[in-house]
This record gives sequence, C-alpha cells and structure tokens, in this order.
Amino acid sequence: APAGRYEAETAPAQCRGTIDSNQAGYSGSGFCNGDSAVGAFAEFTVNSATARTATLGIRFANGTTTGARPADLVVNGVTAGALSFESTGAWTAWTTKTVTVSLNAGSNTIRLDPTAAAGLPNVDYLDV
Ligand code: GCU
Repeated sequence: APAGRYEAETAPAQCRGTIDSNQAGYSGSGFCNGDSAVGAFAEFTVNSATARTATLGIRFANGTTTGARPADLVVNGVTAGALSFESTGAWTAWTTKTVTVSLNAGSNTIRLDPTAAAGLPNVDYLDV
C-alpha cells in the first residue's frame, strides 16, 4: 500500500459499527461498516511531521439506490466540511472522494460523522 494509507479496519483507526469483509474490492483485510445511525463514525489517526494543508482521499462504497449518505468531516474535533457520499451503484463499487484539510504538526484525528439516520457508506481507507 502507498505510504500514507490508513485502513479503516486497522488500529488506531476506530469504527463504530462492524469491520466487514463481505463486499469485494476493498483494500487490506476489510472495511468499516458504520452503524446505520447518526452517532456512528469512522475515525483515523494521522501523524504529520509539520502543520500543512493535505489532500485526503476517502475510499468508500454506497450501494444504495436511495441516495447519498451525508457526513461531517471532523478534523481534530472541529467540523471541517460536509461531505456527500453519493451512491456508487453497488456495495462492491468503491470510489475515492478527495478533500483538502489543514493538519497540525503531530497527531491528528480525522473522523466521519454521519448526519442522517442511514449512517455512513462503507469506508475502506483514508489516503493522506
Ligand atoms: C447492506 C450491505 C452493507 C452495508 C449496508 C448499509 O447491508 O451489505 O455492506 O453496510 O447495506 O446500508 O450500510
């Protein structure tokens, strides 16, 4: 895997939900299937040598045909944006959403907090 890839199923990443491996095409050993609820989350811990602007890639799948799964992007406890994880057409169809954030020097938490009751899409990894 490329340097800077953080798998959702690998500590210190946290998943409020289950780590599943039943939807082909994921990286690593599985993915985070967040609970279908506001309050579910996927959280990554990222170390940065310096304070900097970073482009994140969030790999996900949303197999519903009923629409997007919106979530807040929360960086170090502060909401940095609202993301719309649109349908990818199938749970085995994974795609990467990119977003730019500010990182602190040292440890950073990057968390996806769903804002609708359906919860998160399935989350595979974060690239930084
Ligand atoms: C299905 C699918 C899961 C997915 C879930 C959801 O159950 O198999 O992988 O997480 O839908 O709606 O989130």
